[in-house]
Amino acid sequence: MITKPSKRAYVETYGCQMNISDGELMEGILERSGYDIVGSPEDADVVLVNTCAIREHAEKRVLGRVSQLNGLKRDRPDLVIGVTGCMAQRMGGTLLEQAPYVDIVMGPDGYRGLPETLDRLEASRNGEDESALRTVISGPKSIEVVRESSKRGPQLAVLQLDMDENYQGLEQRRADGPSAWVPVQRGCDHRCTYCIVPYVRGGEKNRSATEVLAEIRSLADQGVTEITLLGQTVNSYVWQDVPFPELLRRVARVDGIRRVRFTSPHPRDVNEELLDVMATEQAVCEQLHLPAQSGNNRTLKRMLRRYTVETLLEKVEMVRAAVPDIALSTDIIVAFPGETDEEFHDTLDLMRTVRFDDAFTYKYSLRDGTPATRLPDTDFIEPTEAQARLAELIAVSRQIQNEINTSEVGRIEEVLIEHEGRDPGQIRGRTKRNKVVVFDGDAARIGAYTHARLERTTGATFVGSEVETSELVTAAV
Ligand code: SAH
Ligand code: SF4
Ligand code: F3S
Repeated sequence: MITKPSKRAYVETYGCQMNISDGELMEGILERSGYDIVGSPEDADVVLVNTCAIREHAEKRVLGRVSQLNGLKRDRPDLVIGVTGCMAQRMGGTLLEQAPYVDIVMGPDGYRGLPETLDRLEASRNGEDESALRTVISGPKSIEVVRESSKRGPQLAVLQLDMDENYQGLEQRRADGPSAWVPVQRGCDHRCTYCIVPYVRGGEKNRSATEVLAEIRSLADQGVTEITLLGQTVNSYVWQDVPFPELLRRVARVDGIRRVRFTSPHPRDVNEELLDVMATEQAVCEQLHLPAQSGNNRTLKRMLRRYTVETLLEKVEMVRAAVPDIALSTDIIVAFPGETDEEFHDTLDLMRTVRFDDAFTYKYSLRDGTPATRLPDTDFIEPTEAQARLAELIAVSRQIQNEINTSEVGRIEEVLIEHEGRDPGQIRGRTKRNKVVVFDGDAARIGAYTHARLERTTGATFVGSEVETSELVTAAV
């Protein structure tokens, strides 16, 4: 019997950790149904671009990339190009029209059926399955055939959001290494007025704690020692009688797990129970991402963030009281429509008051369909002004980061070696407080824990040197 050679698939992912984790999920699903996963589009029969819709810039970049990948079809007209993820969900059929060389558009809840959709496309192309072209299956797992008579062949769109789909029972194809991301929640129940996520990923869906823990035990058995729990508002997770702090505690106690992180928590759900787990569980890292978005109450209210500057500062105090050495990071949006110069300065004040170790800073980007688009035209801020505010915010946050990191030079910290460094003979790792340290060492030691002295900082990261255990004992005495 002649066996058909397996098809080869390549997945290229953009966007947040959740989306990267979805890329791994797609690879897992494809691999289990017989595809070989390859490392470059040139080697693949199926190329999937897994996209982000959070800002216009992110979408433009991806559209450019998809058009570039279309170049591969010149020599290989059978190549399948799929666009998946948040931008696929947002643009849907429009994307198929704008980019007629795209064969499949699939939103974030369609991945379980990915192999079937690919089979259906192939059958349609071969004329084997006329019904596939004509049938529009409705219902939760709907496949909508968007263009059956396109000169370039059939195009399929799978865009149904599904409140029951949390990919229970399916596992990611993870790269070897000491760290793994584990999604515990999909979607979001908030409606921050600038944000597209709830519209492209639907409402909050939490995975069973039993399944999450079983997955983490199995990862630990395979040698994973660091887990990052993922969700859009991860700390609002609740499954039956297991709220997030309890889940975190159980994960931290899994044999073999030495480090646990989670992202992104919503400030409103940072509570005493969570802080108690962070303070008492050895494995939970001394790091918290606390997305503030703005330092002005009127703006926060118009963003529908559901906290005030005062309550946010109270949370910061609670966090620092519970875990004194914690490293804090944040997300900030400048030039939200209607933000005055004075209100922007309140954000700078917040930065100076809290002194975050790290900040991810963005200019507001208009997202069609979100509530903020309905604000009066006159509220929208000129790009040059927005750019100036962003530059000022970045300067302030970098300076603070530099001061904090400079004050940490000399510390000896536990480091998990994660990658090779940029220069030969160097390796790169992270401390529990999520600071990156580069030092001399052998790449064969990736996955090992060691200690390093932080010798100097470039501002954002550290250059260090490894500390012998005997030296460490002396240092402790
Ligand atoms: N669920 C996470 C955020 C996911 S999006 C949370 O609530 O923290 C990551 C960040 O992108 C957000 O925190 C926000 O700062 C930024 N962002 C979201 N929508 C944006 C928009 N329309 N324009 C600019 N930045 C945006
Ligand atoms: Fe977007 Fe707000 Fe949900 Fe975060 S909490 S994903 S910013 S709507
Ligand atoms: Fe982007 Fe979707 Fe994540 S919009 S930030 S990839 S949830």
